[in-house]
Amino acid sequence: MGPNGAGKTNLLEALHVGTQGFSPRTRTDAHLIRFGAERGRIALKGARGGSQVESEIVLGVNEAKRATLNGARLSAAEQLRSELATLVFTPDRLAVVKGGPAVRRAYFDRALGRLYPARAVVPTEYAAAIAQRNASLRRVSFGASSRDALAPWTQRVAELGAALVVSRVETVAEVGPRFSERAGELGLAAEVRYEGEAPTAEALEARLDQDLDRGTTGLGPHLDDIELTSGGRELRRFGSQGEQRLAVLALILAEAELLTERGPAPPLLLLDDVLSELDERRRRILAERVGSAGQSFITSTVASALPVDPAQLVEVTPGSAR
Ligand SMILES: Nc1ncnc2c1ncn2[C@@H]1O[C@H](COP(=O)(O)OP(=O)(O)OP(=O)(O)O)[C@@H](O)[C@H]1O
Ligand SMILES: [Mg+2]
Repeated sequence: MGPNGAGKTNLLEALHVGTQGFSPRTRTDAHLIRFGAERGRIALKGARGGSQVESEIVLGVNEAKRATLNGARLSAAEQLRSELATLVFTPDRLAVVKGGPAVRRAYFDRALGRLYPARAVVPTEYAAAIAQRNASLRRVSFGASSRDALAPWTQRVAELGAALVVSRVETVAEVGPRFSERAGELGLAAEVRYEGEAPTAEALEARLDQDLDRGTTGLGPHLDDIELTSGGRELRRFGSQGEQRLAVLALILAEAELLTERGPAPPLLLLDDVLSELDERRRRILAERVGSAGQSFITSTVASALPVDPAQLVEVTPGSAR
């Protein structure tokens, strides 16, 4: 709790960086360092399930960030993601519902990585295969290489595309029912739907002329949408601001539930400005649900916005949180 500009979002951002290795807000690590300073450090000490966790991230304006987990140096700070799960809601996250298909694909592909860690690489490997096939398409159309050179990339796009579609279908099958339940509890009848089809090598070959013209691959899961709907209508276009917020929250709660069941420990939930725009009844339902979901931080300008007693109230003022 704290007034506008006190540093509540900064605090949640620090918790995100300290548990995931990157900011939910910016890809530019230098923005995380205090204005005018050369370096920054986030050190966290906490409990996860039954075990103690200590992490440290050191950021420098002109140096690569360094991370340690329980005293052991990690090769990349982002490796924290595979060790600790943190789910975050910020008002920016409304883009998952409001934004274009790319935002939803990115969101569900990250969820896929959290739910099936062994397949976390599939979306990036598929994206790399598409980029390589597109580069090859352009070389062929400039006459710099022959059509035969495309075949291996077409094959790879077909294989990885199939793997990605299967993983997305499974993710949506797992998240979907929970999402509808959590949304329903918050008074929103909503569904998630994905109808991706694996791009076969034959189908890719069949549209080769078009792809050569455009220099891009016009078929495959990089173009799919994962639709969030209410009453059969897209929430993106027809949902109210509050309904869109509820949908993002329901997604986060659904995933938190799945991650808790799978173990080893429930995810950390960081909910920034989540209570604004929700009516009293929905705030209460949300607060009760979050209260049973493991460790959560909810920010607000006034303590009374949360209709239940928190386990701990942290007062944020510029430069301190206590
Ligand atoms: N790198 C930085 N170094 C120093 N101060 C910064 C840095 N980045 C942001 N700030 C400042 O931190 C202050 C607190 O921001 P923050 O977003 O955490 O506030 P908040 O408590 O979440 O406010 P609100 O209730 O309006 O959301 C802002 O005034 C911002 O200018
Ligand atoms: Mg804020």
